[in-house]
Amino acid sequence: MPVITNIDDLKRIYERRVPRMFFDYAESGSWSEQTFRENSSDFDLIRLRQRVAVDMAGRSTASQMIGQDVAMPVALAPVGLTGMQHADGEIKAARAAEEFGVPFTLSTMSINSIEDVAEATQKPFWFQLYTMKDMDYTARLIQRAKDAGCSALVITLDLQILGQRHKDLKNGLSAPPKLTPKTVANLMTKWRWGIEMLGAKRREFGNIVGHVEGISDASSLGAWTAEQFDPSLDWGKVARLMEMWGGKVILKGILDAEDAKMAAKLGADAIVVSNHGGRQLDGALSSIRMLPAIMDAVGNDIEVHLDSGIRSGQDILKSLALSASGVMIGRAFVYGLGAMGQAGVTRALEVLHKELDTTMALCGEKGVADLGRHNLLIPEDFGGRWQEH
Ligand code: GLV
Repeated sequence: MPVITNIDDLKRIYERRVPRMFFDYAESGSWSEQTFRENSSDFDLIRLRQRVAVDMAGRSTASQMIGQDVAMPVALAPVGLTGMQHADGEIKAARAAEEFGVPFTLSTMSINSIEDVAEATQKPFWFQLYTMKDMDYTARLIQRAKDAGCSALVITLDLQILGQRHKDLKNGLSAPPKLTPKTVANLMTKWRWGIEMLGAKRREFGNIVGHVEGISDASSLGAWTAEQFDPSLDWGKVARLMEMWGGKVILKGILDAEDAKMAAKLGADAIVVSNHGGRQLDGALSSIRMLPAIMDAVGNDIEVHLDSGIRSGQDILKSLALSASGVMIGRAFVYGLGAMGQAGVTRALEVLHKELDTTMALCGEKGVADLGRHNLLIPEDFGGRWQEH
């Protein structure tokens, strides 16, 4: 068993174990990948204030997200095709999250279905919704999430059309992988993944296949989104979806103060400041850079979470100190899952927890609610270098 001390260790094992097309799928941003890179590198621009001789006994990272108790304010983000990173990947990730005491979000574009995950877990999970042109199908998805006891609906607002990720096109990304000479050559070097995948419950999009008819290619994320996703989704439709759900709602993919105000006005329970991990609008600012302006606009009106770029407990602390109530992690847990299955997701959560706890202590704080801008050294031009329109 290798000694895993940080998230990058898991990423290295993940890269060796998982077929290239799925590694590339997770590891890509759109177009030039500028936003993808800056999501992480902008965290490095913020520094921490070291404080000493503070009583650090009895620390805790426990907190709440949308009124739910969490062992630390970190939720697993919805990630498409998670069940291609490891056999039964969504079930494994959901179980690891449940044991750790943090929320798991199941993507519409998952391999395991809503029902698979509900059957394999005890606690309610969150369900992420993509809105389809076919309103009946959307309504059925919402009903299935209700029947499964999901405790929040996460409506993603930044993917009505898919941002282009070059590698997915070049690799012919599909679930299950199509057996071209290039994929076969690569799969032959990933035999453990292949053997485990033979025993998987599913190898296709579990929320879709068998639930909709007349799709030209249900194995291709690109084809499916282009054909089925609703490009006319607007705030009026968001309000209708919220009404259909009737429970807690998190609006994900907000990167602008004006949009944050709209989300607050609609009465959502939380927003997720996110640029979809740099996978959609290339050239958008990083989530952490946008967070202060969004907090200033809606911080008193709605709970704010941050997603995109989190790879360490220090990144989590910086987000919380800028007043986010929690964060979402995508790639950070996928690395663990691809590397070691459920144990790898648990390891990723342990690593992040230890980093958050130790960093908090060395900043002189005992609890996440005590964190604030006083813990940070922020470059003067961090949020304000851009001209107002
Ligand atoms: C889907 O959510 C993706 O980013 O590929």
